[in-house]
Amino acid sequence: MKVLITGGAGFIGLHLVEKLIKEQKDVVIVDNLTSGIKKRIPKSAAFYEADIEDSTIENIFAIEKPDYVVHLAAQVSVQVSMKNPLADCLANIAGTINLLQNCVKYNVKKFIFASSAAVYGEPAYLPIDENHPQQPISFYSLSKLTSEQYIKLYAKHFGLNHSILRFANVYGPGQNTHGEAGVISIFLNSIFQENAPIIYGGEQTRDFVFVKDVADGIYSALHYGKNHTYNLSTNTETKINQLLASMLKMVNSNLTPLIKPQRDGDIRQSRLDNTKAISELHWMPRYSLDRGMQETIDSYQQELIEARSKKNGDD
Ligand SMILES: NC(=O)c1ccc[n+]([C@@H]2O[C@H](COP(=O)([O-])OP(=O)(O)OC[C@H]3O[C@@H](n4cnc5c(N)ncnc54)[C@H](O)[C@@H]3O)[C@@H](O)[C@H]2O)c1
Repeated sequence: MKVLITGGAGFIGLHLVEKLIKEQKDVVIVDNLTSGIKKRIPKSAAFYEADIEDSTIENIFAIEKPDYVVHLAAQVSVQVSMKNPLADCLANIAGTINLLQNCVKYNVKKFIFASSAAVYGEPAYLPIDENHPQQPISFYSLSKLTSEQYIKLYAKHFGLNHSILRFANVYGPGQNTHGEAGVISIFLNSIFQENAPIIYGGEQTRDFVFVKDVADGIYSALHYGKNHTYNLSTNTETKINQLLASMLKMVNSNLTPLIKPQRDGDIRQSRLDNTKAISELHWMPRYSLDRGMQETIDSYQQELIEARSKKNGDD
């Protein structure tokens, strides 16, 4: 089985690549390295440095003839989407259409799309199930929802098999601070630099799902679930101020958070119903927030040690 992963050099992508290689699948990565990290790509994966919106993507499909496509590449920043909606649209909508065209032309068996809880907007009820009204409040979430609709029309007109996965707030080792939901990595950066972490509000809740659980969910979607949309989440709400308090405790830090007013447009509560993914994808999130955070902290500390010893070696 050959799987082509767009955005495979990114945070979620690299965890999925690791999982697929462990399961002895052939892996092809397409990534333009805007935030992806080339040196983390395993040697056994084929790698193409390319933009998903570029016409050269067709050459990659012609050479590799993938069985499955997992589409993770995206312009992932809400702020960038608000400043430059056209760039967001080209990467997220036009890029997706370019892939869909090639999937149909090269008879890809299934297309799996990384969508987001952001498509729901401010929740009308909790937990948010897949039928909850979709009311994007940023151009990023609009580009995700629009891509979902293109996928459904490709299914209707050209018979493209697919699963649309709406991720909750993903966290874990290797996350940078720029993406959609980097609050845990932002806090960790502040804590390890001995800067007071800044909280905007703090009473907001989020549904934090560990990246290895997300990689497992994507893997399950290769085998199960046809032409449906699934939340990948934990169905658990955590307040941001509680999250930070437990992080500070876990790393024995005495830093006092700096509390600022909640930002405009910040969703107050989020918890995503995952029963559909559990029953139809035969998937289950295995990590509690404490266990996932501990693994994230350990990996962060390990990276700091390695960076320091490299710096000392260079000096
Ligand atoms: N991290 C989260 O909490 C979260 C939540 C919901 C949805 N998602 C979605 O999951 C996917 C993966 O997110 P992530 O957190 O791993 O982000 P990431 O930024 O770490 O990974 C995205 C990857 O895509 C690549 N890329 C960006 N634009 C590209 C383009 N035009 N052509 C080719 N490659 C391109 C980047 O270099 C990067 O390697 C994204 O589609 C994102 O919208 C993430």
